Amino acid sequence: MKGVILAGGTGTRLQPLTLVVNKHLLPVGRKPMILHAIEKMHEAGIDDILLVIGKQSAGIYADFLGNGEQWGVRLTYKIQDRAGGIAEALLLAESFIRPEDRLTVILGDNLFEESLEPFARSFLSMTDGARVLLKQVNDPRRYGVPVLQDGRIARIEEKPENPLSDYCVTGIYFYDSTVFEKIRSIAPSPRGELEITDVNNLYAAEGKLSYDVLNGWWIDAGTIDSLNEAGNRVLGGGKS
Ligand code: G1P
Repeated sequence: MKGVILAGGTGTRLQPLTLVVNKHLLPVGRKPMILHAIEKMHEAGIDDILLVIGKQSAGIYADFLGNGEQWGVRLTYKIQDRAGGIAEALLLAESFIRPEDRLTVILGDNLFEESLEPFARSFLSMTDGARVLLKQVNDPRRYGVPVLQDGRIARIEEKPENPLSDYCVTGIYFYDSTVFEKIRSIAPSPRGELEITDVNNLYAAEGKLSYDVLNGWWIDAGTIDSLNEAGNRVLGGGKS
């Protein structure tokens, strides 16, 4: 399985920090944020990783991470030079993935406790399709929210006013290589982005979107509060 880490976002909600340092290089515990995602991939046995980064900080990433050898992985880089949404950024991975490959995608600002290894294994035991990781949260309206039916995801509603469950879809996704034709077939949302939720809903419509639930902590570190919480969690858990 191959890995893709999406780290191209500019982090407007983290200004002024992100006026100086790219969001995914900010410290979480004792390490820059990006290293947590790389280590999660490595821990799950995914060592061939594409990093999608913004052009402004590309030199710093290359300088810091190099070819990835120091962390036991092989890194390839792609530059994302406009903000067109998660699915548009993922399309940059198309030439990195062969038709027979499967991929694990992590949004670089998603920090979490559990190992991805068992989830990657359940995904690989499926013949095709996609698998997402859900987390029970207090405020599902901030996220993609799954509508669950008979052990499957019937559909996902993006930031719904009246969520139909108290689960959110985290930024950790497993896909077969049909993900790229699906991205190509969707149109931009009202906020002008290619939404990953629209892609996941195409899998759901085919009856091919399965899920697992994360029981450990999970944080989308896009704000100052959640960034601080992620740092505390990482240090408090003794794993930094
Ligand atoms: C994105 C996805 C959303 C998901 C969230 C997880 O939201 O669109 O479905 O729940 O990531 O971090 P965004 O952070 O782009 O608003």
